[in-house]
Amino acid sequence: MDRDVYDIDEHIEDEESSLRPISFDEYVGQTDLKDNLRVFVGAAKLRDESLDHVLLYGPPGLGKTTMAMIIANEMGSHIKITTAPAIEKTGDLVAILTSLNPGDVLFIDEIHRLNKVVEEILYPAMEDYCVDVVIGKENTTRSVRIDLPPFTLVGATTRAGDISAPLRDRFGIVAKLDYYSQDELTQIISRTSGVYGMNMDEEAKVELAKRSRGTPRIANRLFRRVRDFAQYFGDDIITQDRTKEALNRLKVDQLGLDDVDRRYLLGIINRFQGGPVGLEALAASIGEESVTLEDVYEPYLLQKGLIKRTHRGRIATQAAYDHFHIPRDFDE
Ligand SMILES: Nc1ncnc2c1ncn2[C@@H]1O[C@H](COP(=O)(O)OP(=O)(O)OP(=O)(O)O)[C@@H](O)[C@H]1O
Ligand SMILES: [Mg+2]
Repeated sequence: MDRDVYDIDEHIEDEESSLRPISFDEYVGQTDLKDNLRVFVGAAKLRDESLDHVLLYGPPGLGKTTMAMIIANEMGSHIKITTAPAIEKTGDLVAILTSLNPGDVLFIDEIHRLNKVVEEILYPAMEDYCVDVVIGKENTTRSVRIDLPPFTLVGATTRAGDISAPLRDRFGIVAKLDYYSQDELTQIISRTSGVYGMNMDEEAKVELAKRSRGTPRIANRLFRRVRDFAQYFGDDIITQDRTKEALNRLKVDQLGLDDVDRRYLLGIINRFQGGPVGLEALAASIGEESVTLEDVYEPYLLQKGLIKRTHRGRIATQAAYDHFHIPRDFDE
């Protein structure tokens, strides 16, 4: 698989690229999605066609970018990678589209952030493999249609709800990525420990998996920190005790909640009597951005049943009170 990268955060890319699985077989979990994609990729290859456009959505760090790269790899295609905020003008997108070769995968990250005029260029590109460009000046302009090679657009977003219906409808394959089970995270951590050449006890892997918020990126990040502790203290294998100690020092609790999660939950409990409280008011009271809370923090808290979202606002559940050992003196 060849890659061109436009404007992706190179630092994050470097750290993560060594850990990225490159085939469906190596990609742990998301079994339904993976099994379906195997069929769609296999069938497209049999027909010698490009794969239909794919939209991947779900919380950060669950493997959307990784899956986009795997799709290209499994298709035997070249991938071009960009992110919606980097495509400011229609000309930028036209330049990318006209540089594609037949069968290429174009990956657009954060696709919900495309601006409207740029997005409209994508409609005919996706549907009919062509773009209409306006050339000339003032009253001598005319529109020219440029044909594109067949290509596959893979879009990724953490906010599927922010994608316009016309764009969403042009993706033939739409898939949601879910949080990983403890077992799947344990497998991912095993792989990571192999890649880094640092052994880890089975119980240590499970401990880390439990506290990784169902998220491979977090599992890998915490693995690197736990490894720092182990190496610094001269261990030749990462033990469960060292893992617990490191995670406690990093203030990652039993459920994998970090400082922001705790301020979020304790904010609702202590300042708003358990809720309901509007997201904006809560965000302001704990000094966080409401979009970050909504995209990054809430999906996991909801999945763990620690909060509920109602039309009147956010509510801390009994499970949240129990987690902090705070008695609750009223009913929901
Ligand atoms: N299924 C998986 N198996 C093994 N490792 C994975 C898997 N999914 C993700 N990872 C690891 O987690 C890291 C983060 O994944 P990735 O960058 O693909 O997430 P993302 O969904 O694109 O996140 P964002 O929304 O922030 O862009 C990758 O570097 C990869 O090492
Ligand atoms: Mg990504």
